[in-house]
Amino acid sequence: MEDTLSQSNSPHVLIFPFPVQGHVSCMLKLAELLCLSGVDVTFLNSDIIHRRLLRYTDVVSRFSCYPGFRFETISDGLPTDHPRSGNRVVDIFDSIKMVTKPMFRDMLLPGGCLNCGTRPPVTSVIADGIMCFTIDVAKEMGIPIFLFRTVSASCFWAFYCIPKLIESGDLPIKEDDEMDRLLNGVTGMEKYLRLRDLPSFCRASDLSDQGFQVVMSETQETYRANGLILNTFEDLEESALTQIRKHIPNLYAIGPLHANLKSRLEAHMSSPPRSSNSLWEEDRTCMTWLDEQAPKSVIYVSFGSMSMLNREDLIELWYGLVNSNKKFLWVIRPNSVAGDGRNIPAHLLEGTMKRGYMVRWAPQEDVLAHQAVGGFLTHSGWNSTLESIVAAVPMICWPYYADQQVNSRLVGEVWKLGFDMKDICDRVIIENVIKDLMDRKRDKLTRPVDRMMKLATRSVAEGGTSYTSLNRLIEDIKTSNK
Ligand code: UDX
Repeated sequence: MEDTLSQSNSPHVLIFPFPVQGHVSCMLKLAELLCLSGVDVTFLNSDIIHRRLLRYTDVVSRFSCYPGFRFETISDGLPTDHPRSGNRVVDIFDSIKMVTKPMFRDMLLPGGCLNCGTRPPVTSVIADGIMCFTIDVAKEMGIPIFLFRTVSASCFWAFYCIPKLIESGDLPIKEDDEMDRLLNGVTGMEKYLRLRDLPSFCRASDLSDQGFQVVMSETQETYRANGLILNTFEDLEESALTQIRKHIPNLYAIGPLHANLKSRLEAHMSSPPRSSNSLWEEDRTCMTWLDEQAPKSVIYVSFGSMSMLNREDLIELWYGLVNSNKKFLWVIRPNSVAGDGRNIPAHLLEGTMKRGYMVRWAPQEDVLAHQAVGGFLTHSGWNSTLESIVAAVPMICWPYYADQQVNSRLVGEVWKLGFDMKDICDRVIIENVIKDLMDRKRDKLTRPVDRMMKLATRSVAEGGTSYTSLNRLIEDIKTSNK
């Protein structure tokens, strides 16, 4: 058995995501797409993420139909009780470089668990683009490496332009700077990108800030890889993709990944099973609650897997939701509210009993696809944005950090798929923006929302740009084996 495998000529990709929900779940989708094309895949998870995936999903049995797939695990270098969310996420960057990098190298060395003759050797690596140390290791081993970035092309491009923004004096942002001032330094986005819309790391007053340094330096390293994979599609981000290609010509725009996967699974089987890559237990009772609501009457509220709310914002949001008189489904993740969550005003509790439903984690893709959902109050994480586009649900954007500030500007100002409520958390404004989205200004959004949904669907259908780009990636992976 061992001999047969070690002599096999199958292409074998090692996929290595940064260990947080938004990165792991979309890279698992990419893994499944590769498996469907006959590529062997090893998916390298951090121990903690892997334990949670096993606990809350059926991922192992789901992937058991792909004989060439297997999981491996590695430490992320942090103690088990580290929160790994909110502002503390940046701690993973240091620990992964210090602790995980040497382990990763050992795994790929002869005799290491990824190179011990029990499986075909790794013929290419797809690593998270915010872990560029993987380029050094792959190059040392003579293995081609592709980087995958989970952010929008526009955000990647803004990250790429940071050195230019420093040179022009736009960064660091000075105290007396007008946050609404338009920027010239991010080519192609001059007409709408303000200081306020730069990735949140750019708000650091000190350029030695860890988050700022990481995104700037990791992005600048991208050119050293054999190619860059982005979860986006040409019709959505043509301008940013054009700019990036001038610097990184081998670019694969293969998104929306979840739609791409769904479309390819449907080509293989009549009713593909629903899949979850959640690191929390999905509460499906909200689907029953949604079944009882009128079409497009509910606003879905969720701020992704890492954002933290303070008590003040929580109360403002809550008042806004209750006072809008709309039905709402709100995801409040465990440990996502800082400070004291007690003594909630009676008016809010009563309003929630009448019109709201709260869960700790929802089956988001199914929720957005439900006919009762008419709007999404989101933190503008890139996966959430793409999921909303595919489901044709207009958005209210309240970005928390990182790439979300850029995404929300695009949604509100460029694509006209919703309203950007960046940097504002006031109960009256929230109430009004919800009424606008659900009723008063809904007509203005309907056409762009439907149009973008159709373009997204077309991009992943046979012959579409993301479909073709994914095929090219698969071909390049297969030929890198020769
Ligand atoms: C972060 C960044 O914000 C994001 O932009 C980046 O691209 C990846 O890392 P996160 O903040 O978690 O991710 O947001 P998002 O990208 O929107 O991903 C959240 C994922 O969790 C989505 O796929 C969403 O469907 C899922 N989710 C969220 C659920 O399944 N249930 C929930 O209740 C909430």
